[in-house]
Amino acid sequence: MKYSTIAGLLLSPVIAHASLTGYKGDILYFTGDPQQGKQYEHYIHDGELLVENGYVVDTGTESAMQIKYHPDKIVDYSGKLISPGFIDTHVHFPQIEITASYGKQLLDWLNIYVFPTEMKFNVPDHAALFADKFIDELIDNGTTTALVFATSNPVSVDALFSKALSRNMRLISGKVLMDRNAPAPLLDSPETAYLESSLLIEKWKNKGRLGYAVTPRFAPTSSEAELAVAGRLLRDYPDVWLQTHLAENRQEVSWVKTLFPWSKSYLDVYRHFGLVTPKSVFAHSVHVSDADFQMMAHSHSSVAFCPLSNLFLGSGLFNLELSQKNRVIVGLGTDVGDGTSLSMLKVMGGAYNVTQLRKAFSDTPENILPLEPMENWYLATLGGAKALSLDHVIGSFTPGKEADFIVLDPQSNNQLKIRTSNNDSAESIIFAIEMMGDERTVEHTYIMGEKAK
Ligand code: GUN
Ligand code: ZN
Repeated sequence: MKYSTIAGLLLSPVIAHASLTGYKGDILYFTGDPQQGKQYEHYIHDGELLVENGYVVDTGTESAMQIKYHPDKIVDYSGKLISPGFIDTHVHFPQIEITASYGKQLLDWLNIYVFPTEMKFNVPDHAALFADKFIDELIDNGTTTALVFATSNPVSVDALFSKALSRNMRLISGKVLMDRNAPAPLLDSPETAYLESSLLIEKWKNKGRLGYAVTPRFAPTSSEAELAVAGRLLRDYPDVWLQTHLAENRQEVSWVKTLFPWSKSYLDVYRHFGLVTPKSVFAHSVHVSDADFQMMAHSHSSVAFCPLSNLFLGSGLFNLELSQKNRVIVGLGTDVGDGTSLSMLKVMGGAYNVTQLRKAFSDTPENILPLEPMENWYLATLGGAKALSLDHVIGSFTPGKEADFIVLDPQSNNQLKIRTSNNDSAESIIFAIEMMGDERTVEHTYIMGEKAK
């Protein structure tokens, strides 16, 4: 309907829309991976984003848009950067309380900090309180879509979905499946895992912009019977996603080898149970071979690269070059509470730092290019949308996309102001925002054309 209306009206020189709003500012978005060609990168100085009824109508220079449209309303963000909202491809909402807890690496971290915290989410009021805080923080940080781990208790999923629905957010989550190697109050069984997941899928399907992800925590906390249940859920409910952790830490990888001695690799465990699909997102994937990246590329599965978490937990340095050489789809994730911030700007800073460190430790540093500013922004927006198989609706500003967007102030803090006041190139300013920005840099967050911050 919408497209035919727009197409029809394109025949007339000036387009009048009932509730058309123009947002003036410097516009940045991607229509593909800028590594594959400059034509996918769209930076419009003094541009305008046209939005109607929650959808993108057009973008262009302010002068071109003035000739083409007569918007109902103009919002002037001149001097600010307007971008699609950030997409966090891996985060744990019950873990915000333990962010920056000291001194442990993955397996001890889980036992000492994560599991005790997640047990508190069996109480509906507690889950609702933290769901509220979490969604508010996402919006404050300019994140408009996220793929989120809840806990193994369905109460936590209900709390998160209720809050996301009330803010009309496009958000994907699911109940964690785990039936071993964790405290008893957090464990389910293959039978309850199926039942609880399917009830949640039925309960939340077609509600707002929500999606469901089958969520086995990681191979060590699910028996073979439970991983088989995860595969069955994917077959029984073809619309759902799959999220899990993969090869984050060396001890974890060895443990998986002892738990599944028949497997060829960690990813092979998931493959065996039918979990490597186009809608599967594997968080971390730090210790992954070339062959496994090839399997992911072949299956159109995605990686959530979580640099702040990988640095904080001392897990390792994700091989972005190798994943990209193999054409694996990559998005960025905060992985809070293991990552130290819900700011995707800080995650972009971390991603750059990881590529610098890889260069420092490589035998062939000349082959490693520090992550380029535009590529980094792509990963946080359209790259994330592709990782979540949502690039047909979000992540860009092409006509018909859902108008989830953010307005960023390049002068939001003193240091950033000093750095961005010297008339640099757009690329240089964008790089400075990536390296030095935080939630203060996000002046506004719009969800489907409605101002949420
Ligand atoms: N692997 C399994 N569970 C977790 C978790 O909660 N956080 C991280 N970083 N890795 C995991
Ligand atoms: Zn995680």
